[in-house]
Amino acid sequence: MKIGNLIVKDGALLAPLAGVSNRPFRVLAVKAGASMTYTEMVSSEGIIRDQERTKEMMVFKNDEQPLGIQLFGSNPQTMEKAAAITVKEFNPDVIDINFGCPVKKVVNKNGGSAVLKDLQLTEDIIKGTVQGAGETPVTIKIRTGWDDANPVFEKVGEIAQRAGAKAVALHARSRAKGFSGNADWTAIKKLKEAVDIPVIGNGDIKTALDVKKMIEETNCDGVMIGRAAMGNPFIFNQINHYLATGELLQRPTISEKIGMARIHAQLMKEQFGEERGAVMMRRFLGWYVKGFRGASELRPILFQVSTIEEIDRVFEDYLNGKYDFSQVQPPDDTNGGLNPLRTQ
Ligand SMILES: Cc1cc2nc3c(=O)[nH]c(=O)nc-3n(C[C@H](O)[C@H](O)[C@H](O)COP(=O)(O)O)c2cc1C
Repeated sequence: MKIGNLIVKDGALLAPLAGVSNRPFRVLAVKAGASMTYTEMVSSEGIIRDQERTKEMMVFKNDEQPLGIQLFGSNPQTMEKAAAITVKEFNPDVIDINFGCPVKKVVNKNGGSAVLKDLQLTEDIIKGTVQGAGETPVTIKIRTGWDDANPVFEKVGEIAQRAGAKAVALHARSRAKGFSGNADWTAIKKLKEAVDIPVIGNGDIKTALDVKKMIEETNCDGVMIGRAAMGNPFIFNQINHYLATGELLQRPTISEKIGMARIHAQLMKEQFGEERGAVMMRRFLGWYVKGFRGASELRPILFQVSTIEEIDRVFEDYLNGKYDFSQVQPPDDTNGGLNPLRTQ
């Protein structure tokens, strides 16, 4: 797939994920084979006001690239200025505009998916951002519309193309749907038919098989993965392997998952410091142990860690059988039957 002059290799893109797609997770995703990553959404207002917390979220290195910095905002002039600052100070491969966020804090300021209610504003925001970004390609990420009664994705795709956007990612649900029901992949197919710029399909991909299915059903140019990658960077490797060979890789073992979680925790420490890193790591730990025997007993223990050493110790104890989860049935939908004490 080509986004402007940027070549993005086959495979899957890591979705922008607030509170999740920070540098440590992006590094792991790229190592595992993600073909592109995005920052968490950052506020255009925060950028032009030079807010430290906002700018902190925009820092990246080349081991996370190609990378898009995702901006949100509802004022075209602010978006233009923010895009120009983003290019000057950070120089990402892509600037992405968030037109999909359903969160009240963003929508109440007319940002995120609220913009989809006003197509003139949508166009002005894209034009402003393209203007500010100069040579850097601008992409957009949308939902199907504000609600199911008013799907606007095809119109927005056409507007984006006309306004100079170089790709459009579609989370195939309306804002009103939140994360409920199933993503409607037929919308991705319709968008692909409506525009010439690349279409990136998004919503409910859980496995490598789903990637192939989405590409076949929609003819999309790229796929983007959010929730299925959380605590599971392995998915990118699984996808690449499957697309290249048609064979499905074995699911990662318990010890491989723990190994990945430990590396992740170490990166969090390097990025955010010991205590903040450990606290921020807690939610990831909850995802990493999904499917472990005794996961629901293990989680409260992991959710209390405040150092990286503690994380290591809890996992050591778990692998050494210190916790007695013998009465607990393994869940049968994920790693059912896998022995948590198995080392490889
Ligand atoms: C925790 C979380 C944070 C998210 N943050 C963002 C964000 O910052 N920007 C954005 O465009 N979408 C965000 N999304 C939406 C995802 O990028 C993606 O569109 C959505 O999760 C559907 O894809 P999936 O089914 O693969 O998870 C977020 C989703 C989740 C679960």
